[in-house]
Amino acid sequence: MAERKNGAVAEHLNAPLGEPILQVRGLVKHYPLTRGIVFRKQVGAVKAVDGVDFDLVAGETLGIVGESGCGKSTVAKMLVNLERPTAGEIRYKGDDITKLSGRALKAVRRNIQMVFQDPYTSLNPRMTVGDIIGEPYEIHPEVAPKGDRRRQVQDLLDVVGLNPEYINRYPHQFSGGQRQRIGIARGLALRPEIIVADEPVSALDVSVQAQVINLMDRLQTEFNLSYVFIAHDLSIVRHISDRVGVMYLGRIVETGRDAEIYDHPTHPYTQALLSAVPVPDPEAREHQERIILFGDVPSPANIPSGCRFRTRCWKAAERCAMEVPLLAVPAEFRYEAGPAAHDSACHFAEEKQVVPQEEPGPVAPVESVEPPVEPTDGSA
Ligand SMILES: Nc1ncnc2c1ncn2[C@@H]1O[C@H](COP(=O)(O)OP(=O)(O)O)[C@@H](O)[C@H]1O
Ligand code: SF4
Ligand SMILES: [Mg+2]
Repeated sequence: MAERKNGAVAEHLNAPLGEPILQVRGLVKHYPLTRGIVFRKQVGAVKAVDGVDFDLVAGETLGIVGESGCGKSTVAKMLVNLERPTAGEIRYKGDDITKLSGRALKAVRRNIQMVFQDPYTSLNPRMTVGDIIGEPYEIHPEVAPKGDRRRQVQDLLDVVGLNPEYINRYPHQFSGGQRQRIGIARGLALRPEIIVADEPVSALDVSVQAQVINLMDRLQTEFNLSYVFIAHDLSIVRHISDRVGVMYLGRIVETGRDAEIYDHPTHPYTQALLSAVPVPDPEAREHQERIILFGDVPSPANIPSGCRFRTRCWKAAERCAMEVPLLAVPAEFRYEAGPAAHDSACHFAEEKQVVPQEEPGPVAPVESVEPPVEPTDGSA
């Protein structure tokens, strides 16, 4: 279970900016490690997610960031019910969806949809774009009566900036960015309230990343969506996130509002991730501090004692091996109203400005009107 020790003061400072639509508490996913062929015996567990707490407020974007293997996709899969948690709660509008089944679960699943990481492999190559986008209607026919589905799918193509006439084409006839637009249209088909986007732009070129993020930004307002937006790179989530949670080895180690995390990080892991963020301005880049992390991420089957980041932390001390740091506002900031007063799971949390203060990242300005995108030969 995740430990939190926020007192009243800390709760006040870290209160999300509205009523939560999703509340995640003590979320755990352990995959058993077994040995033996006839008599299978559990010899350990891969602790992919090891006690995660967060709230998602209606209409906001929560960015979840961390290196590969830290448990982001496993969290995403539990949110959309593709994986059953080992422990913990996922409350959607108050109901714990991990306890629901049958019709009640189906109704909730409609409202929480996922956009997958790799548009090259997540779309069935043998289905037309129309069938891919309209497939969710087979499970939820009440959303679009059969006679009206084609029109609804064409509307969705239009909404994501693709030409509705291409409804009968196949995924290979589109570029990566266009395919991710198709993935997004499919995610929107059931008119969900929440979209869990698992590294939706990581497989795309930088210029295309910006277009897809801008599209998601626009759709958020248009459809009043709440996003859980996952990325391994802090620069990608900056543009779109209201709040950010930084994950390391199955836990959130620092969380706060966008500017708190980018401009006033207090956890050494966040500071290291930020030091690797590309800064476009060459002069600002000169002032950016580089923090090189030594060693590899430990195996989630063998998590270090105390602070799980200690094997790579340049500030690690004896206490770090003995005592698990709690995700809370550090004592030294607890009575401050400043931006350093946000949750950070470090015994020696300290504010450090790593990135010169300007908005980093590859994102272009949001276009008010996007022209329909034509399919290509699939090479872009
Ligand atoms: N089905 C599974 N069985 C065993 N281990 C798994 C399984 N799925 C994921 N893992 C392990 O859990 C950890 C977290 O994986 P994942 O959630 O995919 O991380 P991320 O999305 O942050 O890269 C990794 O070490 C991964 O190998
Ligand atoms: S608790 Fe110790 S090891 Fe962990 S991040 Fe803080 S200083 Fe580093
Ligand atoms: Mg992943």
